Amino acid sequence: MSETATQTIPAAYYGERVTWVHHWTDRLFSFRCTRNPALRFVAGQFCMIGLMVDGKPLTRAYSVVSPPWDEELEFLSIKVPDGPLTSRLQHIKVGDTVLIGRKPVGTLIAESLLPGRNLWMMCTGTGLAPFMSLLRDPDTYDKFDRVIVAHTVRDVNELAYREFITAEMPSHELLGELAAEKLFYAPAVTREDFPFKGRITDRIRTGQLYTDTGLEPLDPAKDRVMLCGSEAFNSDMEKLLEEAGFEEGTNNKPGTYVLEKAFVTK
Ligand code: A2P
Repeated sequence: MSETATQTIPAAYYGERVTWVHHWTDRLFSFRCTRNPALRFVAGQFCMIGLMVDGKPLTRAYSVVSPPWDEELEFLSIKVPDGPLTSRLQHIKVGDTVLIGRKPVGTLIAESLLPGRNLWMMCTGTGLAPFMSLLRDPDTYDKFDRVIVAHTVRDVNELAYREFITAEMPSHELLGELAAEKLFYAPAVTREDFPFKGRITDRIRTGQLYTDTGLEPLDPAKDRVMLCGSEAFNSDMEKLLEEAGFEEGTNNKPGTYVLEKAFVTK
C-alpha cells in the first residue's frame, strides 16, 4: 500500500485511486485516477496533484489531460530522477492513492479567447496536456473553424497521444465528426529525423509551418493562439506574437492569445 493511502488526506485534496499508468518513454508518463463527482473543471485548467510524503502533501500544478465529461482524471508528467515529486510519482501503480486538488484554475480556456478562424494550440513537451482536454471538449470547436495541435518535442517517441489524435479522434464516438472536419495535428521534432523538423518559433519565421500544414499564416485579425510549454518557449512565442499584433487574453477580457507554462519541471 502506498504511503499516501495510509495517511489522512488534507482537506484541500481528494484522495483518488490510480486506475492506469502508461510510460511513453524514460522521460514521460501518463496516469489515470478516479474522480470525485464533486470535482468540476473547465477544459484547459490545471490543479495541484501529488503524494503524501513524510506526513505532508507534496504537490505540483498539473494540467488535466482528460476532458470535463470523462468520469476519470488523466495527467501527463515528466520524470526527473532527482525531482522531489516526479522521482516518486513515476513509480505509482494501479491501486495507489494520489492527491488531487479540489480547485482547478487557469487561463488556458476557450473563454479567454475571442472567436476566430484557426485556433493554434502550440506546445512543447508536457505542455500538450491541457490541449488534450480542450480537443475533446465539443465547446472548443464552437468558436473556431479549425483547431490545430502543434506539438514540438525533442524525439519522435515523445509525441505522446499522437496515435490518439490522428487515429482515434476522427472516429471518436462523440467527437469524430467535429474532429474529422476541424482538428489538425501539426507535430514537429527537433533532435531526430522527422518529416517536420525544428522549433516552431523558427518554422513560423521561415514560413515552413504553413508550407507543412497548408494553413494560412498567423493573422491576429483572424487567428487565435494558446501557448503551453517551457518558460523559454512561452517567452519566445509571446514576443513573436506580440510583434505580430496579438494581444493576451484573460478569463475576464478575452484576447487573441493566452499562455500558461507547462508547470512541472522537477
Ligand atoms: P530543442 O531540442 O531545440 O531544444 P524540452 O524537452 O527541453 O522541454 O523541449 C521540448 C521541445 O521544445 C524541444 O523540441 C525543444 O527544442 C523545444 N524548445 C525549447 N525551447 C524552445 C524555445 N525557446 N522556442 C521554441 N522551442 C523550444
